[in-house]
Amino acid sequence: MSDKPIAVMDSGVGGLACLLAIRKTMPSENIIYFGDTAHMPYGTKTVEELESCAGKIVDYLKERGVKMIVLACGTMSSTIIPFLYEKYPEILIQGVVDPLVAAVSRACEEGDKVGVIATPRSIESGSYKASFERLRKKLDVYYKGCPDLSVYIEKGITDGPEMEALLKSYLDKLVYEDHIKVLALGCTHYPLASECMKRLYPDLVLVGPEAALAGNAYSLLSVHEMDNDSDDDGWLEILASKKTEGFESMARMLGLEDYPVKEVVL
Ligand code: DGL
Repeated sequence: MSDKPIAVMDSGVGGLACLLAIRKTMPSENIIYFGDTAHMPYGTKTVEELESCAGKIVDYLKERGVKMIVLACGTMSSTIIPFLYEKYPEILIQGVVDPLVAAVSRACEEGDKVGVIATPRSIESGSYKASFERLRKKLDVYYKGCPDLSVYIEKGITDGPEMEALLKSYLDKLVYEDHIKVLALGCTHYPLASECMKRLYPDLVLVGPEAALAGNAYSLLSVHEMDNDSDDDGWLEILASKKTEGFESMARMLGLEDYPVKEVVL
């Protein structure tokens, strides 16, 4: 058992929705959230750039004594986990790819058509594809990289005509030509635009990673007997490498107004 904090990392606001699910699943855990807003977007960065950005954050979090890092970011989860495992063997690391794919599988029947949208770097990495191929259930999966979607959402554009047009440019083909039944949101920013997606495509089943990620993170901690068994609610610190209006207003919108964003420049 351990009262050391958990870290939750993303390039910006995307991981905040995962943070809510993590707090719900593990209310007694102390949590440091880190949004790398100074370097957002991650989805078009090279693997070397991602290793450099994430390495600085994890070095900082290691000094803060975290016991686990939850990568609430599809891009980091699909590209740099092997690098992080090797560099930080003493810290537990949970990514988003396998939990999301498992959640999609639970929502599907054998042979169903599934669309996976994520950042270009996540799709190119082949990690989602490899995870779907490991499933016993065979699904017909279509992949689509969406270069601008996380950037709009980070700015606070989660609905309205601009978001509708952008979503249609990425999703119309998947829905009307490929006839997908389920859409996997492979970037943690995307669930924040799910109201707009639901209105545009009411028959589509949307699956985001938040609950599954929280569940897997809890299992990982428990298996290592490192969960916090306190009866009290844990503390939360929200950090960003640059304070931005988009980040602060999304945190408020998600009910996190009691946790002022602190800037940590790395
Ligand atoms: N939220 C992240 C992801 O899940 C990163 C988005 C970005 O920075 O482009 O991929």
